[in-house]
Amino acid sequence: MILEVNDLRKVFHRDEVAVDGVSFAVPVGGSLAIVGESGSGKTTCARIVAGLEHATSGTIQLGDLSPKSGRKEKARVVQMVFQDPYQSLDRRQTVSSCLGEILDFHSDLDKSQRAEKIKDLLDLVGLDQRYATALPKQLSGGQRQRVAIARALAPLPRLLILDEAVAALDVSIQAQILNLLVDARAATGVGYLFITHDLSVVRHVCDDVIVMRRGQVVERGPVEKVLGDPTHDYTKKLVGSIPRPGWVPARGSTRD
Ligand SMILES: Nc1ncnc2c1ncn2[C@@H]1O[C@H](COP(=O)(O)OP(=O)(O)OP(=O)(O)O)[C@@H](O)[C@H]1O
Ligand SMILES: [Mg+2]
Repeated sequence: MILEVNDLRKVFHRDEVAVDGVSFAVPVGGSLAIVGESGSGKTTCARIVAGLEHATSGTIQLGDLSPKSGRKEKARVVQMVFQDPYQSLDRRQTVSSCLGEILDFHSDLDKSQRAEKIKDLLDLVGLDQRYATALPKQLSGGQRQRVAIARALAPLPRLLILDEAVAALDVSIQAQILNLLVDARAATGVGYLFITHDLSVVRHVCDDVIVMRRGQVVERGPVEKVLGDPTHDYTKKLVGSIPRPGWVPARGSTRD
């Protein structure tokens, strides 16, 4: 397993129980979705796994990473991609300096190796090389999210946490980003912890799914089983409320 979360609890101030005894695991190179209504604790779980928030109790094991390891070591195992790339990108930094900065932090490359790596990363996320000199404001939302994904993949992490990473994008652009994620997983063996409330996204990208409600996991299993034949009433309700039933992202649709 690249991630094993055991009996995780998070109680915020004023006794708000955001996560209430949650356990789940992501196999090496696997893809687990967390779905559930707003406020069910999905982001809190993700932020704790990424080390952005402390758990009240419970354990988290990231591959063979020691709990004592520092930020840099942890960053080589787990990276996170957020909903709004514009907020997480530095507005004054070109695409190549954004990616170069991460590469410099994690590796010791000479100038030509560094340039080569940046080129590879742009290829990996399907961004034309001419965007290397662009600033975030010169890019579309989909292109910015490609940059954010390239940056997250730069340290060659074993697990990528994506929190509503395509939620803000137009449907056709969502499809392209999802296809890119499917391809990037195949190419790099990175695993995904994929947080979304869009079940069609889950179908396209994930192997397994957990359904959260009020801080607890109410149902879990392979995507086909849970979404095809849900047992819990809450999951049945969720499955019944898919906004775009049968929606499948088209391959080869126009690039953003
Ligand atoms: N920093 C915080 N301080 C206090 N309460 C918080 C904090 N962050 C989250 N919560 C509460 O914890 C609960 C779970 O929130 P969380 O953001 O994890 O839900 P979510 O499933 O990601 O929801 P959404 O689908 O809207 O993103 C909510 O009740 C929320 O109000
Ligand atoms: Mg959230």
